[in-house]
Amino acid sequence: MKNIVVLISGRGSNLRALLAAARAEDWERALGLRIAAVISSRPDVAGLQVAAEFGVPAQVLSHLDFQGRDAFDVALAHAIDAHRPDLVVLAGFMRVLTRAFVEHFAGRLLNVHPSLLPAFPGLGTHRRALAAGVRLHGATVHFVSSDVDAGPIVAQGVVSVRPDDDAESLERRVLEVEHRLLPRSVALVATGQVWLERDRVCARPGATAQLVLLAA
Ligand code: GRF
Repeated sequence: MKNIVVLISGRGSNLRALLAAARAEDWERALGLRIAAVISSRPDVAGLQVAAEFGVPAQVLSHLDFQGRDAFDVALAHAIDAHRPDLVVLAGFMRVLTRAFVEHFAGRLLNVHPSLLPAFPGLGTHRRALAAGVRLHGATVHFVSSDVDAGPIVAQGVVSVRPDDDAESLERRVLEVEHRLLPRSVALVATGQVWLERDRVCARPGATAQLVLLAA
């Protein structure tokens, strides 16, 4: 059985999408994958309820309890390692990670970001996409490198920008794409159909088509 640990900081809708896919597709029996634990960087967030709803052990590790980024990341890596993870998924995890942390989990650390990277790293992606007048926007799942919202791209989902879109409507459609893109990316990486070799993402021939998603 391969273990997946999910890190969150808030609402947990991507966590829900992962857990729902794992249940619907019976990842444990069909793929040998288990979502072993959820770790939240904030207490009292909705994502912790989601973990409870699905019966997945959850834990809070707040950076406020640590002196500085290095100490927090060491403790976080320790907490994750306790679950012997084959893959760690950042699902709305709102912390910049240290180089040491990223290197420790190199090739085993995925993030979902609400833009078509390398366009619009950071926050406020939907507002910035509208301001830039792009016709296409979307979401990216990528292996994490030590730069924020950067690293080898695993999968991308595309939505077209409509004339009457505002940041909220665009966010809604991109989030739907994230909810489809993240579970399939996690399953492909965790089962070894997609992997990182040096700085390049490699995929078995059958997996390639699943790494692009075109929404309306
Ligand atoms: C998502 O849009 C994710 O891409 C971004 O933060 C948001 C988290 O949403 N990094 P949720 O907590 O998964 O609902």
